[in-house]
Amino acid sequence: MTFNPLEHRGIPLDRQLRNWRELNVEPVDPDRADPYTKCRIITMNGIETEAIFFSHHFSRVCPEMEVKQQLAEVRYIEQQQQKTVNWLLPGQSSVLETTIAYEQVAVDLTGWVARMEPDPYLKQAYEFGVLEDFDHLYRYANLYEMIEHRKAEKLVDNLTEVMPGRPTMLHHRDPMDNVRTPYDRNQAQPISKLHALTIMAAEQQTMNFYMNVGPQYMEPIARQLYQEIGLIEEEHVTHYESLVDPGETWYERLVHHEYNECYMYHSFMETESDPKVKAVWELHLNMELEHLRLACELMRKHDGREPESILARELPPPVTFEPNKEYIRELLATQVDLTTLGAGYVREAHERFERMQSRIHGDEKPPSERVIDEHREMFGQEYRLQSEGDHPVQSLREVRVSR
Ligand SMILES: [Fe+2]
Ligand SMILES: [Fe+2]
Ligand SMILES: [Fe+2]
Ligand SMILES: [Fe+2]
Repeated sequence: MTFNPLEHRGIPLDRQLRNWRELNVEPVDPDRADPYTKCRIITMNGIETEAIFFSHHFSRVCPEMEVKQQLAEVRYIEQQQQKTVNWLLPGQSSVLETTIAYEQVAVDLTGWVARMEPDPYLKQAYEFGVLEDFDHLYRYANLYEMIEHRKAEKLVDNLTEVMPGRPTMLHHRDPMDNVRTPYDRNQAQPISKLHALTIMAAEQQTMNFYMNVGPQYMEPIARQLYQEIGLIEEEHVTHYESLVDPGETWYERLVHHEYNECYMYHSFMETESDPKVKAVWELHLNMELEHLRLACELMRKHDGREPESILARELPPPVTFEPNKEYIRELLATQVDLTTLGAGYVREAHERFERMQSRIHGDEKPPSERVIDEHREMFGQEYRLQSEGDHPVQSLREVRVSR
């Protein structure tokens, strides 16, 4: 069934405010919830957080009083949505458990987007990035067993494999090589713009999360691993945000943000397994329809253009959390040794890459390597979850240490 968000009436803005009782949502069961329900919660928290920060940035450069007031009204509702969505997460989860869920989101959301992306240059950007977050999942899973004595399979539930991707130590590139070429807003398909916004938002919330939770651990290896991977998430935000055409007007960007919120809530409403969570997605979709209508009015008034000229006439097929095991294995087999040079990709380590590597590592093993060494020392082997057989890359197969 097709759904055009421009043709549906949502909840009027003056009826969207929730009181404390309505905001007090019951979190999902930490042991029984579908891991992909948690992934959808984390994704929507990222989307709402992006909506809020985008609106603040817009407000800071906007001279029109009435526009700032309308942004403030809608933004307050976005904040209530963010509070509702993120508070669905159960308080029992440790920081590291949430971290593992964040990297699972990065793998399976980016995996889906890469598979669906029609533009080859954009697709390559997602394929490149997904192999790095896939490796982060493996490093954190090893840390998790070391400091919490639990196994990541309880969390990822066999939906996502845990094994090396492009090794984290090789993600540290010269920052200028993280800037990609943007899509052209007049040529790109609407789905490409939505994909770029979604992945940018997800990576940005991961970056923010590690910035703040990293020092909450006492174990030196944990503190150090968060520093290292936190710096890579900075690279990922640079990588993905640079895909978006900077020539879009502020009003155009606002419309894209609200449209993407409609798309994501609609997608998750269609695919959610938990009825209580599904009801939240449905309620929020009905709020977003009104945000979109208001954003479209602003665009007509201030840009003098019809939003229909930049938007898809119907929502694309729903963004779906599902295993991407075979796809990731194929990417590992073919793209694990890529790095970036300027806005493109190469297989050879070039001079600027080598210089960055030697400056940041300073002849020492980085935390992402030491966490595996320390795990091997403690348990005799590293932690992996390879449900589909041997690692597709010979050099990344597990070395067993004899003791
Ligand atoms: Fe929202
Ligand atoms: Fe990551
Ligand atoms: Fe990332
Ligand atoms: Fe919104």
